[in-house]
Amino acid sequence: MGKGKVVLAFSGGLDTSICVPLLKEHYGYDQVITVAVDVGQPPEDMKMATDKGNKIADKHYTIDIRDKFVEEQLFASIKANGSYEGYPMGTALARPLIAEEIVKIAKKEGADTVAHGCTGKGNDQLRFDFVFRKAGLKIIAPMREMNLTREWEMDYAAKHNVPVPVVKAKPYSVDENCWSRSIEGGVLEDPSVHPDNDIYGWTVSKQDAPDTPEEITLGFEKGVPVSINGKRMKGFDLIMELNKIGGRNGVGRNDMIEDRILGLKARENYEHPAATILLAAHRDLERLVLSRQELSFKHIVDDKWSELGYMGLIDEPLYAALCAFIDKTQERVNGEVDLVLFKGSATVAGRRSPDALYSDDLVSFESHTIDQNDAVGFSAYFGFQARMKSMLENKNKKN
Ligand code: ARG
Repeated sequence: MGKGKVVLAFSGGLDTSICVPLLKEHYGYDQVITVAVDVGQPPEDMKMATDKGNKIADKHYTIDIRDKFVEEQLFASIKANGSYEGYPMGTALARPLIAEEIVKIAKKEGADTVAHGCTGKGNDQLRFDFVFRKAGLKIIAPMREMNLTREWEMDYAAKHNVPVPVVKAKPYSVDENCWSRSIEGGVLEDPSVHPDNDIYGWTVSKQDAPDTPEEITLGFEKGVPVSINGKRMKGFDLIMELNKIGGRNGVGRNDMIEDRILGLKARENYEHPAATILLAAHRDLERLVLSRQELSFKHIVDDKWSELGYMGLIDEPLYAALCAFIDKTQERVNGEVDLVLFKGSATVAGRRSPDALYSDDLVSFESHTIDQNDAVGFSAYFGFQARMKSMLENKNKKN
């Protein structure tokens, strides 16, 4: 009598594939149920995961949460200008929702144990484990527990008739969802190595981008994008379209050293054309409609939101409180932003909003609506204390 059922978070890659026989042979489970969650990976990857799960597991589920991912996590991230150490988070935002789907299947199947293929060095183990532990489930992470090498895994896969891609072993670890594609490992682990252009899959290089700029207009309502060039689109389609438009103009690549939650520094490469464009447009529109006080305070809130988002701690009580503040500010983030995409850059060229805290009549060099003499009194007190201090210093020097 074995240990019953275990539900495995499944991508179809080498690691999670060999988890299937390992969970039976090494860990003693009777049934392995695989779950692949669609957060906008390439359709061919999803199909591969589904086919493979159906072939090698006792039971397989593929669950499509693309719209939920966009409308819950990515919209929240746009409103919060979500970025960690300068890049728009992607993997981090998807992990908690993927984990929640695994929990649902475990409950449905009456399994008390779940498994994932994360290593003991990265962030994903923490993001997954948090959700699993909260649900009271036992967690198995063979990659973390068994210290396996790639060769051993390939060998084990062959022995157990687990299909691995016939092309030579993929040299990088890639994680994709519709918001971002991350590339790590292999030669990239030497931070001084210049990456080959072929690590990127969504974007062309600046050199290969067209010589003529491309202009687009994005519409926002309550802080979330609703249209491209006046055409209304639902979130997922809009993001995929912007990935295409941005990608062909070389927009949205990152090559950086990132501080992981555990404290390890890692070399990371990313591409995220839609995120780069949307965050540039959103930040700009906020500058038009929010007050100076709101903007400076929101900056702090956005930073904190991003830190929690990076850790995947969307159930931390502070997270809901920050979202409530952010949502309140976004009521007035309505309008349109024009951008120019050109050889790797996405530059805002114009913006307009019915909620603008801006008056060309007041600020114009040409108008007389404001009596400029009103500023004289204000100016007399401006920097008053600093002036006092230098007056005192001068006086003390003389004595
Ligand atoms: N460093 C990024 C993050 O922590 C990307 C992680 C990619 N994950 C992966 N399993 N390849 O969000």
